Amino acid sequence: SVDERIADLLGRMTLREKIGQMMQLDARGDLDDEILRVNVGSILHTSPENLYRAADLVKRTRLQIPLIIGEDLIHGYSFYPGATIFPEQLGMAVSWNPSLVEKAARVTAEEGASTGVHWTFSPVLCIARDTRWGRVGETFGEDPHLIGEMASAMVRGYQKGPATAGSLDKDAILATAKHFAGYSETQGGRDASEADLSHRKLASWFLPPFERVAKEGCGTFMLGYESIEGVPVTFNKWLLSDVLRGEWGYKGTLITDWDNVGRSVWEQKVQPDFAHAAAAAVKAGNDLVMTTSQFYDGAYEAIAAGMLTEAELDSAVSRILALKFRLGLFEDPRLPNAERIKAVIGSAEHGETNLELARQSVALLRNDGALPFAVGGADGANGAANAAAGSPKRIALIGPLADDAQNQLGDWAGNSGQVTWMPDGHPRETITTVKDAFEALVPSDWTVTYSRGANVVDLVTDPEGEFYPDGQPRPKIGVSAAVDQALIDEAVENACRSDLIVAVVGDVVQLVGETCSTATLDLLGGQNALLDALADVSRETNKPLVVVLMSSKPQILPASIVGENGVFAKRVSAPATGTGSILWAPSPGMKGGQAIAEIILGITDPSGRLPITFPRHAGQLPVYYNQIRGQHGNRYADLTQDPAFAFGEGLSYTTFAYGDVVIGDGVGGSDGGVTFGKDDVIRAHVDVTNTGDRAGVEVVQAYVGDVVTSVSWTDRELKTFRRVELEPGETRTVEFEIPVADCSIVGPDARRIVEPGEFELLIGHSSRREDLKRATFIVK
Ligand code: IFM
Repeated sequence: SVDERIADLLGRMTLREKIGQMMQLDARGDLDDEILRVNVGSILHTSPENLYRAADLVKRTRLQIPLIIGEDLIHGYSFYPGATIFPEQLGMAVSWNPSLVEKAARVTAEEGASTGVHWTFSPVLCIARDTRWGRVGETFGEDPHLIGEMASAMVRGYQKGPATAGSLDKDAILATAKHFAGYSETQGGRDASEADLSHRKLASWFLPPFERVAKEGCGTFMLGYESIEGVPVTFNKWLLSDVLRGEWGYKGTLITDWDNVGRSVWEQKVQPDFAHAAAAAVKAGNDLVMTTSQFYDGAYEAIAAGMLTEAELDSAVSRILALKFRLGLFEDPRLPNAERIKAVIGSAEHGETNLELARQSVALLRNDGALPFAVGGADGANGAANAAAGSPKRIALIGPLADDAQNQLGDWAGNSGQVTWMPDGHPRETITTVKDAFEALVPSDWTVTYSRGANVVDLVTDPEGEFYPDGQPRPKIGVSAAVDQALIDEAVENACRSDLIVAVVGDVVQLVGETCSTATLDLLGGQNALLDALADVSRETNKPLVVVLMSSKPQILPASIVGENGVFAKRVSAPATGTGSILWAPSPGMKGGQAIAEIILGITDPSGRLPITFPRHAGQLPVYYNQIRGQHGNRYADLTQDPAFAFGEGLSYTTFAYGDVVIGDGVGGSDGGVTFGKDDVIRAHVDVTNTGDRAGVEVVQAYVGDVVTSVSWTDRELKTFRRVELEPGETRTVEFEIPVADCSIVGPDARRIVEPGEFELLIGHSSRREDLKRATFIVK
């Protein structure tokens, strides 16, 4: 059995070999030293070619323990030229389609496994609340339930089943639930700054998605950079041993984040030296230590000094060996397989899954009738077909993101300067930009004229120097570019000659990701000035203006597009006003341009819904929908707290109507007709009708609110949802089941409890109360 094999191997390992197994080192370093001297257990960031050399080096070690290869396959296979890059996680969450996300993760696992990757550091289960944080695009958004659904789907897709017992299929890879837990709750959105996290706050929001994937057998967990009540997660015995391994019974393997152990000494200064840091990390429950080379001597000294026992080390080493046995690496090190690479990397079938996910990852946030764009204003079932039948049209395609293949992919796509073997990112021909797609999709007698219109950033040398201390070139950094009037003038001329203005604006990889938080959420460079000028053209000439926001996270569009946003409109929650239609496509991946063009031309119906709230102003943050009920209206004197676009919102080209919510036998209203016990399951249904003349998808969302709670709590929380496809005029009865146990709140002791009394069940189109039909029930 696996346990017997572990015990046998452990019995033959020296102390130094055990310490080496607990280390994961950067394969861009000195591989000979890492494998032959340190006997390292795992490497990351390795090019496939390097893996053959690494395997040969392993054969020269005493026990020949195979390496486990980890990589950041975050939204597709980031670091292999031409492999499939999907929309980033936030875009995946816009789809509200877990089964499609599972399929995407399967694609990534197949592609990764073919090239010798055993383990991906994905998915991210962080909750995005302060959207200035650079890593918002890597998350599934702001809601614990939606995050849990998506993360669990992704884990299933990668692993094809639990990885905490049994063995893993040849084309499966290990998943990582990260960053455990609360890392996103930074101060001011600044990456890895100290978080303010009580046990109750963690139990209320941050832990539930992790608990779910722990229980479903996610193979590994990665720890956050921050502290909980003063104790860095890396050393947090309460979180790692008491909660994760104790209460949840987690049997998987833990890994620190990048140099968490080393940084505790030289940066965070909570450990006096590496021996103390190593001892504290192992005692808290860590297994693998990422990129802290000092762990090798630190752990050895800690044992010599009696700060740590070899038995404590053995538990960690056993869990690492368990991964290797489950993957079958002792029998087959799973090296790159040329035939599989040819068959799966960037295959046509994977491209189809990617395109479908890209389509569903776009949200239509506002539509004043400009869309779908069709000749003569026809708005039948297929814009492009109508268009083909009408007079030729001129499309002015404007903006820095309309034809920027690498930035369309988003972060973690071989384009952020971290991956030295892909300096130019993914091959251009594997990516369809919006410009490529329009040129391919419009009838041959139409014209598509492109103007850049604005620059986003200027690339400058990092103030810290051109090279890292180890001599590797340091990537240039981006600073907001100046407004270029000549670019704007050219774009305006183009717009004036057109029948449709499409402006594609957003952010670029230099301004997103780890260590790249931003103080502002405004569009950078000349983009606001460009949109102002295009809005003027649109108003003066009545030409439809479509703004496509291709940004990793919610950004603030200028007043010329969304109206004055309620700023200084004292306590007035005015709806956004302005011209045009707005689409949001969060880093939509290789097929993103195609998905956007199809939606604008009416070939595809937009079906995305927001997994995160859009603020009107960065000063409103946090603006997530499920905030704790406060007093005095909980809002500003000079700015409404109403968001620009709420969680769950998103339009289709058709419209939907909801019937009453029916719980059990009790019909909706406020009569509280139905009573449940704490172990019961609430069964409810609602009729949803497509009231327009096009087929479309509605995401039916069910929220529950506990009317009176003994401690302060939120007004409503998403409990379940369903994507339903409806033909014109079709009515579908959508049924839901919600266990009463899911209607819990968290008490002052950080424990979940269902409080007897009245509850609301709110079902409808978005998290906004006015979009929800209400019924009540009683829990006794
Ligand atoms: O997986 C990542 C993590 O999300 C952030 N720090 C580096 C890790 C490995 O690249």
